[in-house]
Amino acid sequence: MKDSVIWVAHDPSVTAATSECMLLDNAYIQAVRTFHESLPGYQPTALIPLKHLAQHLNIGALFVKDESTRFGLNAFKVLGGSYAIARFLARSLNIEDKALTFDQLNSCIQRKRIQPVTFYTATDGNHGRGVAWAARMFNQNAIVFMPQGSSRARLNAIRAEGARACIVDMNYDDAVRYAYDQSKADPQGVLIQDTSWLGYETIPTHIMQGYGTMIAEACDQFEAQEQSQPTHVFVQAGVGSLAGSVQGFLLNRYAQHSPMVTVVEAKAADCLRQSIEQGKPVAVQGMHDTIMAGLACGEASMIPWKILTSATRCFASVLDPIAAYGMRVLAAPLSGDLPITSGESGAVGVGLLVSIMTNPELASMRSYLNLNAASKVLCISTEGDTDPQSYRHIVWDGMYPSR
Ligand SMILES: Cc1ncc(COP(=O)(O)O)c(C=O)c1O
Repeated sequence: MKDSVIWVAHDPSVTAATSECMLLDNAYIQAVRTFHESLPGYQPTALIPLKHLAQHLNIGALFVKDESTRFGLNAFKVLGGSYAIARFLARSLNIEDKALTFDQLNSCIQRKRIQPVTFYTATDGNHGRGVAWAARMFNQNAIVFMPQGSSRARLNAIRAEGARACIVDMNYDDAVRYAYDQSKADPQGVLIQDTSWLGYETIPTHIMQGYGTMIAEACDQFEAQEQSQPTHVFVQAGVGSLAGSVQGFLLNRYAQHSPMVTVVEAKAADCLRQSIEQGKPVAVQGMHDTIMAGLACGEASMIPWKILTSATRCFASVLDPIAAYGMRVLAAPLSGDLPITSGESGAVGVGLLVSIMTNPELASMRSYLNLNAASKVLCISTEGDTDPQSYRHIVWDGMYPSR
C-alpha cells in the first residue's frame, strides 16, 4: 500500500493569485455560468453529502460533486469544450457581448450563414465527447483523435455525437500534436484542445473558465448545505486544466481562507508531481498505462502549471488500486449514504482520501494536510461509468484489489 501513493509537500513561496488566477475570478465565471445555464438540458449536478463515510473517517464532513449527470454526457468535460467553442464562434461573428447565450449565438450563426468550422481535438474520451456534442449543438463539425489503447465504448460515445473519431497509434501527448497538425492543414480547421503551450493559450483558457461553472456550483452547494466553506479539496489531474481551474477559482473566492488543495494524478502519468519535485515542467514519456484514462497525460499544461506551482501545497500520484478502491467505496456506501457511480478517473480523489484516513502508512500525509474532525472535504467525481464494461470488471468482479 505504501508504494500506492507518492506525495510531495510543496511550499509555494508566495501563495497569491497569479495573473492566470485572475482569469477565474467571480465576474468571469458568472458570465460562463450564464452561458452554460442557457444551454438546452442544463441542470446543476448534485453535491452529495456522505455523512456516514465522513463519520467513519473521523472528518467533519465529506461532499462529492457528482458529474455523471452533466448534460447526459457522464463527465464534467463538456463544460470546457462548449464554452471554448462558443467563444470562438462568437468572436468569428463579432459578438462582443460578455453574457453570451446559446440562443443568441445560434440565431446569429443561422442569420449570417457562416461556413461550418471543423473543430479538431485529441482526447482520452471525455473532452472529445464534449467537443463533439458542442459542435453538434452549434451545427459545426468535429474530428477527434484518441490515443492508442483507448476504449471502444468511449470511441463509440464520441461517434454517437456525430463526430468523426479514430484511435491513433501514439500516446495522448503525441495525439495532441497530431490533432494540431491536422487542424492547421484544414482551412476550416480549429483546434479545441484542453492543454496549453506558448502561443496556444486563448482556447485552453476558455476551457479552464468553462470548468469554473462546476467548481462555482459546488462551492454554492457546499455553503448552502454545510453553512461553511470546504477546508480541503481533492482534485484529479491529467494535464492539470481542471486542477488549475479549481485552484484558481478557490483562491479568488476564498483568498487567504482558500481550502487546502491536493492534486491527484495517476502514477503512470504524474507529470505535475514530477514537475513540482524538479521545479520545472517534466514530461512523462511512454504509453501511460493506467485505468485512469482521463488522467493519462504526460505533459502538463502551461497555464494551470503556473497557478498550481504558485498556490497548491500537495501533489500525489497513485496506483490504479487506489482509483478502483474509490469506485467501490462510492458504489457500495455505508448505510444512510447515497451510492455514486464513479469511473476510474472520477473516483481517485475519494480513493486517496479514504486511504489517507485509514492507512497508518499514510499518517504523515494526514498530518501534513491537517485532516481531522474539523475538516470539511470536497471531492469531485469527474465522471460516471464512461466505460461500463471496465466499471463492472472493477466494481463487480473486484479487479485491481487494494489490499
Ligand atoms: C474524468 C476526468 N477527470 C479528470 C480529468 C483531468 O482533467 P485535466 O486533463 O484538465 O487535468 C479528465 C481529463 O480528461 C477526465 O476525463
